[in-house]
Amino acid sequence: MRIDIISVLPELIKSAFEHSIIKRAIDKGLVEVHFHHLRDYAINKYGKIDDAQYGGGAGMVLMIEPIDKCIRQLKSERDYDEIIYMTPDAEVFNQQTANTLSLKENFIILCGHYKGIDQRVRDLFITKEISIGDFVLSGGELAAAVFCDSIIRLIPGVLGDETSALSDSFQDDLLAPPIYTRPSEYKGEKVPEILLSGNFPKIEEWRNEKALERTKAIRPDLLKPTLPTKKSIKD
Ligand code: ADE
Repeated sequence: MRIDIISVLPELIKSAFEHSIIKRAIDKGLVEVHFHHLRDYAINKYGKIDDAQYGGGAGMVLMIEPIDKCIRQLKSERDYDEIIYMTPDAEVFNQQTANTLSLKENFIILCGHYKGIDQRVRDLFITKEISIGDFVLSGGELAAAVFCDSIIRLIPGVLGDETSALSDSFQDDLLAPPIYTRPSEYKGEKVPEILLSGNFPKIEEWRNEKALERTKAIRPDLLKPTLPTKKSIKD
């Protein structure tokens, strides 16, 4: 996978790729991440990349020309599967979208800043718009870091234990069950007996039960209503 990130503040996002699992994925050559400073494509020698919005209103808008130049440059070098714009006014990102996008090869991610970007960029270049939640950040950089982390960890070979990405919260529309490690008792607080039993089918059953309990309590919206069976209709 190759990810090209276009931003006015690449320094803000770089460190997200310099640690732990994501760094290892880069070191192993499973993903390449390249940063492009929008100011390198400025419209004048003073580094101009934004301007006031037509029709009036607070906040500067990123201009089409620098973004056009940067995206065209990248597209002349290779094909991209998606050109993604990080913005709060978009479809909200979830695990299903992460799974789908983790199968792609090349992305450009454009981070918005200030008031946003000229609509013509969205109309002409962007293939997918992503929000990481119903709240507004100061720019798309932190959102892009969250997005990249969630898809990079799904690339085969990135996580040591191949199954651990599949057992994450949300992978089966359930929150994760409780987990414990040593000691088995701390100040009278005990690890559930079943986890020490070595009975793996029973442990699996317990985990499923707990995941369901937690989901019902905290995120009931994740539990889709089951379709009625023939038997339940007859009853
Ligand atoms: N830029 C600002 N807020 C954002 C959000 N919630 N998601 C994605 N990009 C953003």
